[in-house]
Formats: sequence, C-alpha cells, structure tokens
Amino acid sequence: MRRPSRLLALFLAVLVCIGLLTYAVQNQYQIRNTLSYATRPLWDSDDAPSDVVPHYYADGFHITSDAEYVCQLHGWSARNVAPDTELKVLDAVMMSSELDLLEVRMNELEEVVDFFLIIESNATFTGLEKETYFANNKERFGKFADRIVYRFLPGYPLKSGETAWDVERRTRDAMSDLIRESVFRFSPQTQTLVIMADLDEIPARHTVALLKECDFGKSIHLQFRNYLYSFEWYLGLSSWRASIMLWDPKTSFYRHSKSGERILADSGWHCSYCFRTIKEYAVKMKGFSHSDRIGGRINLLDPSRIQDVVCTGKDIFGMLPEAYSYKDLFSQMSLTPLKSAVGLPRYLLENANKFSFLLPGGCKRP
Ligand SMILES: *[C@@H]1O[C@H](CO)[C@@H](O)[C@H](O)[C@H]1NC(C)=O
Repeated sequence: MRRPSRLLALFLAVLVCIGLLTYAVQNQYQIRNTLSYATRPLWDSDDAPSDVVPHYYADGFHITSDAEYVCQLHGWSARNVAPDTELKVLDAVMMSSELDLLEVRMNELEEVVDFFLIIESNATFTGLEKETYFANNKERFGKFADRIVYRFLPGYPLKSGETAWDVERRTRDAMSDLIRESVFRFSPQTQTLVIMADLDEIPARHTVALLKECDFGKSIHLQFRNYLYSFEWYLGLSSWRASIMLWDPKTSFYRHSKSGERILADSGWHCSYCFRTIKEYAVKMKGFSHSDRIGGRINLLDPSRIQDVVCTGKDIFGMLPEAYSYKDLFSQMSLTPLKSAVGLPRYLLENANKFSFLLPGGCKRP
C-alpha cells in the first residue's frame, strides 16, 4: 500500500536533483562567479597605491600665477624649468567606441595638453571586427586636428593561444612607440609629461595644471571619482590606475598598472560603460578584455535587460560588484542615483542637452 507513495517520493527526489543539476550546469559561470566575488574581500586586495596626497582646489584658484603657494600646499616645490627648456604634455589614449567621452575629455584638457595621441584598431582586444570610430568621425574633432597624433593599428582575429590581454599589451606597446616618436620630435631640452589613462578616465583640467606647475617627481597616480553608466551612478573614489609621468625616453613605457605608491586624491572622473546607445553596450561586452564574463550566456546581451541595468545601477554582467571590501560590496549592490551634477567636466555641463545621457535622469538609451 505504501509502495506507490514511496515511489512517488523517489521520483520527486530524482526530479528535484535533475532540476538542481540542470540549474547548476546552466548557471555554473554565475555560481562560480558569485562565490568568488562574494568572498573576494577575504582573499584579494586591489593593490591601490597607499600614499594618498591630499589635493586642494577651489573655483578661482590661480594655479599658474600662485604656483609657489599652490605647490607648497601639496608638499611640492614649483617646477624648475630652465629658460631654454620647454614643458610639453601628451594625453595618450587607446580609442574604443567612446566618441562622446573623447569629446568631453579633449575639451576638458584642451588648455593644458599640447598633443592628443590616439591609437585605434579595426578589431577589439578579443579580435572581433570593429568600426574605426575616430577615423570615421574625425570632423567632430576638427578644432583639435593639428594637435592630434593618430595611429591606426590593423587588427586580426585572435591567433590560437593568444588572449585579449596579449592584444591589449601589444596595443600599449604601440602607444609607447608613438609617445617615443612624438617626444623625439621635441627639442632635446624638453620635459614631457604623459597622461596615461584609459579614454574613460578623465583628469580634471586643474589637476593637470597643478602637475605642470609643481615638481611632483617622476610619476604619480591619479585618483578618480568612479562612475558607472553615467555620472548618475557614483561608486566612490576607487579608481587609481591612471597616472601622469615625467617621460624618460630610456625607461618609460605606456602603462595602466601600479608604478608607485603615491596617488593624488580626487583628480578627475572615471566613467565606466558610459555609452550613448544600447548597441555600444553589447559591442563593449563582447570586445572587453573581460569578455570571459559573458560565459556563453547570450541573454546578457538582451537590449531590454541592458536598459534595465543602466537605469537601476545594477551590474551589467549580472554579477556582484567587483569590490575589495564588504563595505564597498554592500554599498555598490544597491546604488542610489546621484542628483548632483556639480563638479563635473565643464564642457559636459555647457552641452548638457547633447550629453543628457550622462547626467541625472538621462538613463534611457536609444
Ligand atoms: C583591419 O584592417 C587591415 C588593414 O587595413 C585588414 O587587413 C584586416 O583584414 C582588417 N581586420 C578586420 C578584423 O577587419
């Protein structure tokens, strides 16, 4: 009499097991990932530079005319540039698709940078064909034309055994070459400062002005306000990889890694995934060096899902935030949209209609 119900129980148990197994197999990437990101603060640290230099700036600060005073505030002396010596500043970026941020960046830095070095490829780091956005939109940057040094880097599908990280390294090497060639054309007495930052890491104009005036040493990292999708979602002062370096032709190279422990506080903005269209999100997700995150889960590229995360500040890969402390992890899991657009790049606010997608309330993407 009890047999049928036992059989039924067994049958149900098997069904549940199959269900769990199927779920685990289908979501193995997600599960592995959640485990590793949830425990990350226990086993990993982001190796950020530890010596944070306090940064002083207010509207109307006269960095150039009061260099002595302003430098001394930061613990530096004014830069000693001999009469026959010139100081040049290069901004060196690898172009992906971010034309809007490039426009904001170049206008922010216009007064403090001499040359804009741009490298662009027709393939992503993962070897997929991509549009050469800069080359195809050159006229948009016409007013900078005589200060742009552009190099096209032919791309190709990944060779076997080659990873996106290899291609990224090769691209950085090409940028080192381009910097060397540019520096070589300057007079031998020239001191050259090179801004080494990703395109979406924008130093504030006053930061570069300060570092031109003051002798900060050979290199210093730049701490940026970290934003996601737009300046509406603020993650904290956690961006540290960018740096500015007094270029030494013998030893310097274009890097995005730790070069020392010193970092200048609150030096600009890092806007990750700050794209105008949904299509760009999908392209970036497929072309990013972390494209392993997609892990075969095609629905991650679903446009309505992408729109939803951009408007709610959730992770675009459906993962936990990449945080190195539980305080950051929990605060980044449910972000509150920022209502302030105070202290953003000036050009952005002067053209607020054009760039509304980067500003509070502008999360809807075409
Ligand atoms: C990129 O451009 C090069 C040279 O113009 C060409 O040979 C190559 O096929 C292109 N690669 C892709 C992925 O489109």
